[in-house]
Amino acid sequence: MRKWMYAALAGAVLLTAGCSSDTGGKGQGASGGDGTPKVGVAIYKYDDTFMTGVRNAMQSAAGGKATLDIVDSQNSQPTQNEKVDLFISKKYNAMAINAVDRTAAGVIIDKAQAANIPVVFLNREPMAEDMNKWDKVYYVGAKAEESGTISGQLIVDYWKSHPEADKNGDGKLQYVLLRGEPGHQDAELRSKFSIQAIKDAGIEVEALADDTAMWDRVKGQEKMQAFLAAHGDKIEAVLANNDDMALGAIEALKAAGYFTGDKFIPVVGVDATAPAIQALQDGTLLGTVLNDAKNQGAATVALASVLGKGETPSKENTGYDLIDGKYVWIAYKKITKDNVSEAQ
Ligand code: GAL
Ligand code: CA
Repeated sequence: MRKWMYAALAGAVLLTAGCSSDTGGKGQGASGGDGTPKVGVAIYKYDDTFMTGVRNAMQSAAGGKATLDIVDSQNSQPTQNEKVDLFISKKYNAMAINAVDRTAAGVIIDKAQAANIPVVFLNREPMAEDMNKWDKVYYVGAKAEESGTISGQLIVDYWKSHPEADKNGDGKLQYVLLRGEPGHQDAELRSKFSIQAIKDAGIEVEALADDTAMWDRVKGQEKMQAFLAAHGDKIEAVLANNDDMALGAIEALKAAGYFTGDKFIPVVGVDATAPAIQALQDGTLLGTVLNDAKNQGAATVALASVLGKGETPSKENTGYDLIDGKYVWIAYKKITKDNVSEAQ
């Protein structure tokens, strides 16, 4: 945005009282009350544990940098598109979008470009061809394959140090897999690379069941109940694409008598949410992968703030490396009982 316009809008907003962050869709025009750029943030849905962490991280990072108007897209792409139209009509200085359907990013980019409002996508990675549509499009996320590899390695570490993990002694690992939402890069790549890591360690695998539980704890529990009903104690490991589904699976396993006495089964997730850390400490969850909500939120705010001021994001003005000029990749980290403090 041109400097004079930004200054004029900032001035205009000073006259409107009480323009605060997180107005739940009732934001009051471009530029925050404190003169920081006004950023429209649309989260794919509020009812998601990890994204709630990112949302809170964005709020904490915003102070002095940006005024956020954060809205819930309620897991509906049409609803999200309406929110984007609203951000544009309010002439916000930048947008941060956690797409409901990442293949719909192109439509959002077209709208943003027509209004000349830069956009930072987060957590749900747009297709490369969409990312290349306009030079004011950015992405903040984490390399999904890395989290898949780490979660596979957690199972490998356990298998190699616990010969009894091969319950039927056939030399193969019989596993079940709980996937996130189909089409989501994290669901596709975590699934693929976790199994790949196990195979790469020289362990033969057999999938007893493989289904989606949509990132959801209750669905994870229901699917795990069904897996147990079909395969019972033949299951030797549970891989879940996120912690919520892993925790749901643990509930079903507890109901089937696991985690009492010496009845154990390795369960791994991804995210390192607070309840997952608790489960690690309780000894039910074997391991997880830190999906760094704090840095993903902070990087998104840093980029949106810089862009909202009409500047080009760089390491110098955001504190984050920009790969190919438009991607910020936040590293994952292996988390077990032994290093929980690194996730807290
Ligand atoms: C993933 C995360 C999931 C879920 C999803 C939403 O990165 O691991 O728990 O939050 O994003 O897009
Ligand atoms: Ca076996």
